[in-house]
Amino acid sequence: MFNLLPFVLLSFGAGAALAQDSDTVTASSIDWNGFNKTVGGHLRVATPFAKPCFSSGASNAAQCSQIASNNENHLFRTDFPGAYSITQWETCQTTGDGCLLDWHNTTNQKAFTAPEQCGQGSVPNYYVEVHGASDVTATLSFVKKNNVPFVIKNTGHDYLGRSSAPGSLALWTTYNAKYQPQNCASVKPQSAITIGAGVQFQTAYEFAKENGVVFLGGADPSVGASGGWVMGGGHSGLSPSYGLGVDRVLEFKIITPDGQLRVANKCNNADLFWALRGGGGGTFGIVLESTFVASPNVPVQVVLGMYGNTKANSTKLIKQLAKSAVQMGKDGWGGYITPSLASAVWLNPVLNEAQAKASAAGVVSAFAAVNGTTQFFVMPTYTDFFNTFIAPNTDAVGRPQALVTRLIPDKSFTDQTLIDSVTDGLVNSDFGQILVVAPYAYKDFDPSATSINPEFRNAVWHALVSYFWNYDATPASITQTYQKLEAQWATVRQRTPNAAVYYNEADVYEPDWQTRFWGNNYARLLQIKNKYDPTHLLDCWRCVGWKGQSNSKYKCYAKVPGTSTSRRDEL
Ligand SMILES: Cc1cc2nc3c(=O)[nH]c(=O)nc-3n(C[C@H](O)[C@H](O)[C@H](O)COP(=O)(O)OP(=O)(O)OC[C@H]3O[C@@H](n4cnc5c(N)ncnc54)[C@H](O)[C@@H]3O)c2cc1C
Ligand SMILES: *[C@@H]1O[C@H](CO)[C@@H](O)[C@H](O)[C@H]1NC(C)=O
Ligand SMILES: *[C@@H]1O[C@H](CO)[C@@H](O)[C@H](O)[C@H]1NC(C)=O
Ligand SMILES: *[C@@H]1O[C@H](CO)[C@@H](O)[C@H](O)[C@H]1NC(C)=O
Ligand SMILES: *[C@@H]1O[C@H](CO)[C@@H](O)[C@H](O)[C@H]1NC(C)=O
Repeated sequence: MFNLLPFVLLSFGAGAALAQDSDTVTASSIDWNGFNKTVGGHLRVATPFAKPCFSSGASNAAQCSQIASNNENHLFRTDFPGAYSITQWETCQTTGDGCLLDWHNTTNQKAFTAPEQCGQGSVPNYYVEVHGASDVTATLSFVKKNNVPFVIKNTGHDYLGRSSAPGSLALWTTYNAKYQPQNCASVKPQSAITIGAGVQFQTAYEFAKENGVVFLGGADPSVGASGGWVMGGGHSGLSPSYGLGVDRVLEFKIITPDGQLRVANKCNNADLFWALRGGGGGTFGIVLESTFVASPNVPVQVVLGMYGNTKANSTKLIKQLAKSAVQMGKDGWGGYITPSLASAVWLNPVLNEAQAKASAAGVVSAFAAVNGTTQFFVMPTYTDFFNTFIAPNTDAVGRPQALVTRLIPDKSFTDQTLIDSVTDGLVNSDFGQILVVAPYAYKDFDPSATSINPEFRNAVWHALVSYFWNYDATPASITQTYQKLEAQWATVRQRTPNAAVYYNEADVYEPDWQTRFWGNNYARLLQIKNKYDPTHLLDCWRCVGWKGQSNSKYKCYAKVPGTSTSRRDEL
């Protein structure tokens, strides 16, 4: 009944540079044709997204113009095996090798004419279309036999480059137009939706609406539901009331590194199930599908605030919003405060209209204080809310971007120094946002059922500060951008020493990352990693059991002085 059509992105870097790496085998020593046969002829070549624009022989004006006009189009980008949403992960940050357009002006020919060249960067060289579990199994045994480094790619949204690597093997899962969620009896409160790896939120939301149910997913039409999002936590504007993705997932189907297809749920492979509920993507195996709670449809209350986005107004507004943040969190509001859009929006699936107006009084007065406006709406479904307020305003993709974040605990909202530092970072960076997505009002969970940092549940705001750069940035300036973020966040980190950091949206160089991502759960996660992947066939940047930056797979990560590459990273 369920048609699986994910893709395995098998990448192997050809060329002299990669041949020097001890853990990368040269192309000539590998029987690619033989391997291609074992995966039913589904081996393909992967190329960088913007390659058709570059004049080095293969340019194609029609394709280039389509690519240039869709550089920041979320769903368009994710259809390309060689494309990444956060584009430094298509490049090599230490050498400058890459194939990017000028995102300020994608028709700027300077970016793609000599001396600029289209380099493979960190884009995998090959991929395999997987038409069934056996293709994954064949790929895993190929990887083991040939010792090819391996990454798994779904939609390519990762902020920490965990789905790309030079000279590595990657698994790409992609949208499947024929997927048939199982067991979705739309009227039953405990109905569920099964979602294949590669299915994106836009599809899941439309499906939920058609079936009269709520599917909890993130604020982007193109992120995948069954990949990194859910395994790293999975937040949504519905999370304050309904929990995180990890709270709603009932079952995974996964191929572990030993090649076995396993069902992981509360009763089978329960240790693996726990690990997959927060321990991160790309670490324990290749997930083929996951099944989520689908709750009965409810209307959502919405409050939209708009104001004149000046630094002074944003500063005043954010500090004012902090005063009612904990109460809003208790009442179940989720949402996004986005100075660059001069707006903020909250939604609430548990209050009625009158209750919503009373509960959001603090928000109304905060906007009034900066001469802004607020409006209330009732949307018939979360899908309508998403289509109206979120999809047209999603966060930028198609540009290099580095970020720092922190899950701000409820107790810290009385710490004015902290709130001032968060606000300062938000208004003085290229892009800042407060995501009101921590599961603060959601109490119907078993604390031992998920492996996220338990401090996630005491948080109210997920604060995010970031910078962009462009195709022509030098390795030195990229390093400086990461350093600027470290400096900017120092006070925030120091004032919230026990706070959680969201694994999927973290600083690439997050200090003390094991504890920030998982708290006391790290030791058990590492045991489970060692049980299911004893040779650490799967390895990714700051994933459970990470081998450390010295591994050649990570040679394209900027070298940032002062960030930890200590023993503790090399567990
Ligand atoms: C514009 C944008 C908006 C975002 N919005 C949200 C949001 O609203 N809520 C939220 O919680 N997060 C959000 N994120 C963060 C998002 O959760 C992470 O980027 C996440 O890693 C994406 O997972 P992916 O599988 O789609 O991406 P990928 O980059 O393809 O993969 C991410 C990680 O998961 C692994 N992985 C992927 N597929 C599988 C699989 N089938 N089996 C095993 N491992 C796999 C990869 O190896 C990699 O480690 C957003 C990111 C961006 C760029
Ligand atoms: C794999 O085999 C198929 C079918 O023969 C072929 O079309 C494809 O080009 C091959 N892939 C590579 C990378 O050679
Ligand atoms: C973008 O680049 C093109 C080609 O170089 C140029 O003609 C155009 O003026 C630029 N547009 C802007 C807005 O800078
Ligand atoms: C705040 O924004 C309003 C418009 O909403 C504008 O009139 C006002 O000048 C701004 N105030 C400051 C301090 O920038
Ligand atoms: C709001 O507008 C009033 C006049 O309409 C003005 O006196 C006041 O300074 C403005 N406040 C802000 C914060 O801009």
